[in-house]
Amino acid sequence: MTAVPHVPLDRLPALLAAMPKAELHIHIEGSLEPELIFRLAQRNGVAIPYASVEELRRAYAFTNLQSFLDIYYAGASVLLQAQDFYDMAWAYLQKAKADNVLRAEIFFDPQTHTARGVAMETVIDGLYRACQDAKRIGVDAELILCFLRHLSEEGAFDTLEQALPFRDKFIGVGLDSSEVGHPPEKFARVFAKCRQQGLHLVAHAGEEGPPAYIWSALDVLKVERIDHGVQSTKDPALMKRLAQERIPLTVCPLSNLKLCVFPRLEQHNLRELLDAGLAATVNSDDPAYFGGYLNDNFLQTFAATGLDAQHAYRLARNSFEGSFAPPSRKRDYMAQLDAAFAKA
Ligand code: ADE
Ligand code: ZN
Repeated sequence: MTAVPHVPLDRLPALLAAMPKAELHIHIEGSLEPELIFRLAQRNGVAIPYASVEELRRAYAFTNLQSFLDIYYAGASVLLQAQDFYDMAWAYLQKAKADNVLRAEIFFDPQTHTARGVAMETVIDGLYRACQDAKRIGVDAELILCFLRHLSEEGAFDTLEQALPFRDKFIGVGLDSSEVGHPPEKFARVFAKCRQQGLHLVAHAGEEGPPAYIWSALDVLKVERIDHGVQSTKDPALMKRLAQERIPLTVCPLSNLKLCVFPRLEQHNLRELLDAGLAATVNSDDPAYFGGYLNDNFLQTFAATGLDAQHAYRLARNSFEGSFAPPSRKRDYMAQLDAAFAKA
Protein backbone atom coordinates (compact mmCIF):
# COMPACT_ATOMS: atom_id res chain seq x y z
CA MET A 1 0.00 0.00 0.00
CA THR A 2 1.57 3.34 -1.04
CA ALA A 3 -0.63 5.74 0.94
CA VAL A 4 -2.51 4.92 4.11
CA PRO A 5 -5.88 6.69 3.95
CA HIS A 6 -6.72 9.39 6.44
CA VAL A 7 -9.01 7.92 9.06
CA PRO A 8 -11.06 10.23 11.30
CA LEU A 9 -10.34 9.78 15.00
CA ASP A 10 -13.81 8.40 15.74
CA ARG A 11 -13.30 5.55 13.23
CA LEU A 12 -9.81 4.61 14.46
CA PRO A 13 -10.91 2.19 17.25
CA ALA A 14 -13.00 0.15 14.79
CA LEU A 15 -10.08 0.01 12.35
CA LEU A 16 -7.65 -1.06 15.08
CA ALA A 17 -9.99 -3.86 16.10
CA ALA A 18 -10.76 -5.01 12.55
CA MET A 19 -7.30 -4.85 11.01
CA PRO A 20 -5.57 -8.21 10.47
CA LYS A 21 -2.53 -8.61 12.70
CA ALA A 22 0.00 -11.06 14.10
CA GLU A 23 0.72 -11.61 17.78
CA LEU A 24 4.40 -12.39 18.36
CA HIS A 25 4.68 -12.14 22.15
CA ILE A 26 2.13 -14.08 24.19
CA HIS A 27 3.03 -16.48 27.01
CA ILE A 28 0.33 -19.11 26.92
CA GLU A 29 0.54 -19.57 30.70
CA GLY A 30 -0.17 -15.84 30.93
CA SER A 31 -3.49 -16.34 29.16
CA LEU A 32 -4.80 -18.52 32.00
CA GLU A 33 -7.81 -16.61 33.30
CA PRO A 34 -8.72 -16.87 37.03
CA GLU A 35 -11.94 -18.70 36.15
CA LEU A 36 -9.99 -21.39 34.28
CA ILE A 37 -7.42 -21.59 37.10
CA PHE A 38 -10.25 -22.41 39.51
CA ARG A 39 -11.88 -24.87 37.11
CA LEU A 40 -8.62 -26.75 36.53
CA ALA A 41 -7.74 -26.67 40.24
CA GLN A 42 -11.03 -28.41 40.97
CA ARG A 43 -10.71 -30.84 38.04
CA ASN A 44 -7.20 -31.86 39.12
CA GLY A 45 -7.60 -31.65 42.89
CA VAL A 46 -4.89 -28.98 43.18
CA ALA A 47 -5.09 -26.63 46.19
CA ILE A 48 -4.65 -22.90 45.48
CA PRO A 49 -4.14 -20.32 48.22
CA TYR A 50 -7.11 -18.11 47.16
CA ALA A 51 -10.73 -18.53 48.24
CA SER A 52 -12.34 -17.17 45.07
CA VAL A 53 -11.80 -15.86 41.55
CA GLU A 54 -12.27 -12.33 42.92
CA GLU A 55 -9.67 -12.82 45.63
CA LEU A 56 -7.19 -14.15 43.07
CA ARG A 57 -7.85 -11.22 40.75
CA ARG A 58 -7.32 -8.80 43.63
CA ALA A 59 -3.79 -10.22 44.03
CA TYR A 60 -2.95 -8.95 40.52
CA ALA A 61 -1.41 -5.71 41.76
CA PHE A 62 2.18 -5.83 40.61
CA THR A 63 5.10 -3.55 41.39
CA ASN A 64 7.68 -5.07 39.02
CA LEU A 65 8.37 -8.15 36.90
CA GLN A 66 9.26 -10.42 39.84
CA SER A 67 6.09 -9.59 41.78
CA PHE A 68 4.14 -10.78 38.73
CA LEU A 69 6.23 -13.89 38.04
CA ASP A 70 5.63 -15.23 41.57
CA ILE A 71 1.86 -15.27 40.98
CA TYR A 72 2.15 -16.38 37.36
CA TYR A 73 4.14 -19.52 38.26
CA ALA A 74 1.68 -20.30 41.09
CA GLY A 75 -1.25 -20.00 38.64
CA ALA A 76 0.38 -22.48 36.24
CA SER A 77 0.48 -25.15 38.97
CA VAL A 78 -3.08 -26.26 38.10
CA LEU A 79 -1.95 -27.55 34.67
CA LEU A 80 -1.38 -31.31 34.78
CA GLN A 81 -2.98 -33.13 31.84
CA ALA A 82 -2.60 -32.59 28.08
CA GLN A 83 -6.27 -31.56 28.02
CA ASP A 84 -5.51 -28.73 30.49
CA PHE A 85 -2.88 -27.33 28.15
CA TYR A 86 -5.29 -27.73 25.24
CA ASP A 87 -8.10 -25.91 27.06
CA MET A 88 -5.81 -23.03 28.01
CA ALA A 89 -4.45 -22.62 24.47
CA TRP A 90 -7.85 -23.01 22.84
CA ALA A 91 -9.32 -20.27 25.05
CA TYR A 92 -6.52 -17.93 23.95
CA LEU A 93 -6.85 -18.84 20.28
CA GLN A 94 -10.55 -18.00 20.32
CA LYS A 95 -9.71 -14.57 21.79
CA ALA A 96 -7.04 -14.16 19.11
CA LYS A 97 -9.60 -14.97 16.42
CA ALA A 98 -12.00 -12.36 17.85
CA ASP A 99 -9.15 -9.80 17.72
CA ASN A 100 -8.50 -10.57 14.02
CA VAL A 101 -5.16 -12.21 14.71
CA LEU A 102 -4.18 -14.16 11.58
CA ARG A 103 -1.02 -15.54 13.11
CA ALA A 104 0.06 -16.21 16.70
CA GLU A 105 3.57 -17.27 17.69
CA ILE A 106 3.01 -18.58 21.19
CA PHE A 107 5.56 -18.90 24.01
CA PHE A 108 5.40 -21.72 26.50
CA ASP A 109 7.53 -22.34 29.61
CA PRO A 110 8.08 -26.12 29.83
CA GLN A 111 10.34 -25.92 32.89
CA THR A 112 7.42 -24.55 34.95
CA HIS A 113 5.69 -27.87 34.27
CA THR A 114 8.48 -30.44 34.05
CA ALA A 115 9.71 -29.24 37.47
CA ARG A 116 6.32 -30.41 38.85
CA GLY A 117 6.61 -33.83 37.23
CA VAL A 118 4.54 -33.07 34.11
CA ALA A 119 6.10 -34.72 31.06
CA MET A 120 7.34 -32.56 28.17
CA GLU A 121 5.19 -34.69 25.86
CA THR A 122 2.04 -33.83 27.86
CA VAL A 123 2.73 -30.09 27.60
CA ILE A 124 3.56 -30.08 23.90
CA ASP A 125 0.78 -32.53 22.99
CA GLY A 126 -1.98 -30.35 24.44
CA LEU A 127 -0.62 -27.06 23.10
CA TYR A 128 0.16 -28.42 19.65
CA ARG A 129 -3.28 -29.98 19.24
CA ALA A 130 -4.91 -26.60 19.99
CA CYS A 131 -2.62 -24.94 17.43
CA GLN A 132 -3.62 -27.51 14.81
CA ASP A 133 -7.33 -26.97 15.54
CA ALA A 134 -6.86 -23.18 15.27
CA LYS A 135 -6.25 -23.52 11.52
CA ARG A 136 -9.96 -24.42 11.24
CA ILE A 137 -10.91 -20.99 12.62
CA GLY A 138 -8.38 -19.15 10.44
CA VAL A 139 -5.56 -18.60 12.93
CA ASP A 140 -2.06 -19.86 12.07
CA ALA A 141 -0.55 -20.73 15.44
CA GLU A 142 3.02 -21.87 16.13
CA LEU A 143 4.89 -22.63 19.36
CA ILE A 144 8.12 -21.13 20.71
CA LEU A 145 9.74 -22.91 23.67
CA CYS A 146 11.15 -20.52 26.29
CA PHE A 147 13.99 -21.24 28.70
CA LEU A 148 13.64 -19.76 32.19
CA ARG A 149 16.64 -17.49 32.65
CA HIS A 150 16.59 -17.56 36.46
CA LEU A 151 17.52 -21.27 36.15
CA SER A 152 20.89 -22.59 34.94
CA GLU A 153 22.09 -23.07 31.38
CA GLU A 154 22.44 -26.76 32.25
CA GLY A 155 18.70 -26.81 33.02
CA ALA A 156 18.07 -25.24 29.61
CA PHE A 157 20.19 -27.95 27.93
CA ASP A 158 18.17 -30.66 29.74
CA THR A 159 14.95 -28.99 28.63
CA LEU A 160 16.12 -28.84 25.03
CA GLU A 161 17.04 -32.51 25.13
CA GLN A 162 13.57 -33.41 26.44
CA ALA A 163 11.96 -31.29 23.71
CA LEU A 164 14.00 -32.43 20.70
CA PRO A 165 11.90 -35.59 20.13
CA PHE A 166 9.09 -33.08 19.38
CA ARG A 167 11.27 -30.81 17.23
CA ASP A 168 8.61 -30.66 14.50
CA LYS A 169 6.04 -29.19 16.91
CA PHE A 170 7.80 -25.93 17.77
CA ILE A 171 9.48 -23.38 15.51
CA GLY A 172 11.86 -21.62 17.86
CA VAL A 173 13.19 -20.91 21.32
CA GLY A 174 13.08 -17.85 23.54
CA LEU A 175 14.38 -16.66 26.90
CA ASP A 176 12.10 -15.32 29.62
CA SER A 177 11.53 -14.95 33.40
CA SER A 178 13.57 -12.71 35.78
CA GLU A 179 15.74 -10.51 33.58
CA VAL A 180 18.01 -8.40 35.80
CA GLY A 181 21.03 -10.43 36.95
CA HIS A 182 20.49 -13.06 34.24
CA PRO A 183 22.09 -11.63 31.09
CA PRO A 184 21.66 -13.32 27.70
CA GLU A 185 25.28 -14.52 27.62
CA LYS A 186 24.45 -16.97 30.42
CA PHE A 187 22.68 -18.99 27.67
CA ALA A 188 25.24 -18.59 24.85
CA ARG A 189 25.98 -22.32 24.42
CA VAL A 190 22.41 -23.57 24.51
CA PHE A 191 21.30 -20.93 22.00
CA ALA A 192 24.20 -21.95 19.73
CA LYS A 193 22.90 -25.53 19.85
CA CYS A 194 19.37 -24.37 19.06
CA ARG A 195 20.72 -22.44 16.09
CA GLN A 196 22.39 -25.60 14.79
CA GLN A 197 18.99 -27.29 15.04
CA GLY A 198 17.56 -24.66 12.68
CA LEU A 199 15.29 -23.23 15.37
CA HIS A 200 14.28 -19.57 15.28
CA LEU A 201 15.78 -17.55 18.15
CA VAL A 202 14.23 -14.75 20.23
CA ALA A 203 14.89 -13.41 23.73
CA HIS A 204 13.36 -11.04 26.24
CA ALA A 205 15.78 -8.15 26.60
CA GLY A 206 15.45 -4.57 27.74
CA GLU A 207 12.13 -5.06 29.55
CA GLU A 208 13.60 -4.04 32.92
CA GLY A 209 17.21 -4.87 32.04
CA PRO A 210 19.74 -2.49 30.48
CA PRO A 211 20.44 -1.85 26.76
CA ALA A 212 23.59 -3.99 27.20
CA TYR A 213 21.29 -7.05 27.40
CA ILE A 214 19.80 -6.16 24.01
CA TRP A 215 23.28 -5.89 22.50
CA SER A 216 24.25 -9.31 23.89
CA ALA A 217 20.96 -10.92 22.84
CA LEU A 218 21.81 -9.81 19.28
CA ASP A 219 25.57 -10.40 19.27
CA VAL A 220 25.97 -13.41 21.56
CA LEU A 221 22.66 -15.28 21.24
CA LYS A 222 22.12 -14.10 17.64
CA VAL A 223 18.39 -13.66 18.12
CA GLU A 224 16.14 -12.60 15.24
CA ARG A 225 13.71 -10.58 17.40
CA ILE A 226 13.91 -8.75 20.72
CA ASP A 227 11.00 -9.29 23.12
CA HIS A 228 10.11 -5.97 24.77
CA GLY A 229 13.27 -3.93 24.02
CA VAL A 230 11.71 -0.73 25.38
CA GLN A 231 14.90 0.18 27.27
CA SER A 232 16.65 0.66 23.89
CA THR A 233 15.62 4.34 23.83
CA LYS A 234 18.33 4.91 26.48
CA ASP A 235 21.06 4.02 23.95
CA PRO A 236 21.22 6.05 20.69
CA ALA A 237 23.76 3.71 19.07
CA LEU A 238 21.51 0.74 19.78
CA MET A 239 18.48 2.58 18.39
CA LYS A 240 20.42 3.22 15.19
CA ARG A 241 21.37 -0.44 14.85
CA LEU A 242 17.84 -1.74 15.57
CA ALA A 243 16.45 0.65 12.94
CA GLN A 244 19.11 -0.12 10.32
CA GLU A 245 18.77 -3.88 10.70
CA ARG A 246 14.99 -3.74 11.08
CA ILE A 247 15.16 -6.00 14.15
CA PRO A 248 11.56 -6.57 15.29
CA LEU A 249 10.73 -5.48 18.85
CA THR A 250 7.72 -7.21 20.37
CA VAL A 251 6.46 -4.39 22.59
CA CYS A 252 3.75 -5.09 25.20
CA PRO A 253 2.26 -1.78 26.38
CA LEU A 254 -0.27 -3.00 28.98
CA SER A 255 2.36 -5.33 30.43
CA ASN A 256 4.78 -2.41 30.73
CA LEU A 257 2.08 -0.39 32.48
CA LYS A 258 1.08 -3.16 34.92
CA LEU A 259 4.71 -4.02 35.76
CA CYS A 260 5.52 -0.33 36.33
CA VAL A 261 8.07 -0.08 33.49
CA PHE A 262 6.21 3.15 32.61
CA PRO A 263 4.17 4.93 35.28
CA ARG A 264 1.41 5.83 32.82
CA LEU A 265 0.44 4.55 29.36
CA GLU A 266 0.65 8.17 28.14
CA GLN A 267 4.40 7.98 28.84
CA HIS A 268 4.98 4.79 26.86
CA ASN A 269 7.76 5.12 24.27
CA LEU A 270 6.07 3.21 21.41
CA ARG A 271 5.79 6.40 19.34
CA GLU A 272 9.47 7.18 19.89
CA LEU A 273 10.42 3.66 18.71
CA LEU A 274 8.26 3.95 15.58
CA ASP A 275 9.40 7.48 14.79
CA ALA A 276 13.03 6.32 14.98
CA GLY A 277 12.25 3.72 12.31
CA LEU A 278 12.32 0.63 14.53
CA ALA A 279 10.23 -2.42 13.58
CA ALA A 280 8.08 -2.27 16.69
CA THR A 281 4.98 -4.42 17.11
CA VAL A 282 2.18 -4.48 19.72
CA ASN A 283 1.54 -7.62 21.78
CA SER A 284 -0.26 -8.75 24.93
CA ASP A 285 2.46 -10.70 26.85
CA ASP A 286 0.27 -12.15 29.65
CA PRO A 287 -3.25 -10.94 28.84
CA ALA A 288 -5.06 -12.65 31.73
CA TYR A 289 -2.83 -10.81 34.21
CA PHE A 290 -2.37 -7.43 32.55
CA GLY A 291 -5.93 -6.41 31.80
CA GLY A 292 -6.26 -7.05 28.12
CA TYR A 293 -5.78 -9.10 24.98
CA LEU A 294 -4.26 -7.81 21.76
CA ASN A 295 -6.99 -5.39 20.68
CA ASP A 296 -7.17 -3.97 24.21
CA ASN A 297 -3.46 -3.22 23.91
CA PHE A 298 -3.97 -1.43 20.59
CA LEU A 299 -7.06 0.50 21.70
CA GLN A 300 -5.75 1.67 25.07
CA THR A 301 -2.28 2.56 23.76
CA PHE A 302 -3.60 4.53 20.79
CA ALA A 303 -6.08 6.39 23.03
CA ALA A 304 -3.35 7.23 25.56
CA THR A 305 -0.58 8.24 23.15
CA GLY A 306 -2.49 9.72 20.21
CA LEU A 307 -1.09 7.37 17.57
CA ASP A 308 -2.96 7.41 14.23
CA ALA A 309 -3.92 5.17 11.29
CA GLN A 310 -0.42 5.43 9.76
CA HIS A 311 1.01 4.01 12.98
CA ALA A 312 -1.66 1.29 13.03
CA TYR A 313 -0.78 0.20 9.50
CA ARG A 314 2.94 0.20 10.30
CA LEU A 315 2.46 -1.83 13.49
CA ALA A 316 0.33 -4.47 11.74
CA ARG A 317 2.75 -4.63 8.82
CA ASN A 318 5.71 -4.96 11.18
CA SER A 319 3.93 -7.83 12.92
CA PHE A 320 3.61 -9.81 9.68
CA GLU A 321 7.11 -8.91 8.45
CA GLY A 322 8.61 -9.82 11.82
CA SER A 323 6.78 -13.15 12.03
CA PHE A 324 8.42 -16.46 11.18
CA ALA A 325 5.82 -17.26 8.52
CA PRO A 326 7.05 -18.38 5.08
CA PRO A 327 7.30 -15.53 2.51
CA SER A 328 4.20 -16.58 0.56
CA ARG A 329 2.14 -16.60 3.75
CA LYS A 330 3.46 -13.14 4.67
CA ARG A 331 2.36 -11.83 1.26
CA ASP A 332 -1.11 -13.25 1.87
CA TYR A 333 -1.34 -11.60 5.33
CA MET A 334 -0.13 -8.29 3.89
CA ALA A 335 -2.75 -8.42 1.10
CA GLN A 336 -5.46 -8.89 3.73
CA LEU A 337 -4.05 -5.94 5.69
CA ASP A 338 -4.05 -3.71 2.60
CA ALA A 339 -7.64 -4.74 1.81
CA ALA A 340 -8.74 -3.75 5.33
CA PHE A 341 -7.11 -0.32 4.98
CA ALA A 342 -8.40 0.21 1.45
CA LYS A 343 -11.97 0.04 2.72
CA ALA A 344 -11.26 2.04 5.92
N1 ADE B 1 7.20 -14.62 31.54
C1 ADE B 1 5.92 -14.30 31.33
N2 ADE B 1 5.80 -12.98 31.13
C2 ADE B 1 7.04 -12.46 31.19
C3 ADE B 1 7.59 -11.17 31.04
N3 ADE B 1 6.83 -10.10 30.79
N4 ADE B 1 8.91 -11.02 31.17
C4 ADE B 1 9.69 -12.06 31.43
N5 ADE B 1 9.23 -13.30 31.57
C5 ADE B 1 7.92 -13.51 31.44
ZN1 ZN C 1 7.01 -11.76 27.80
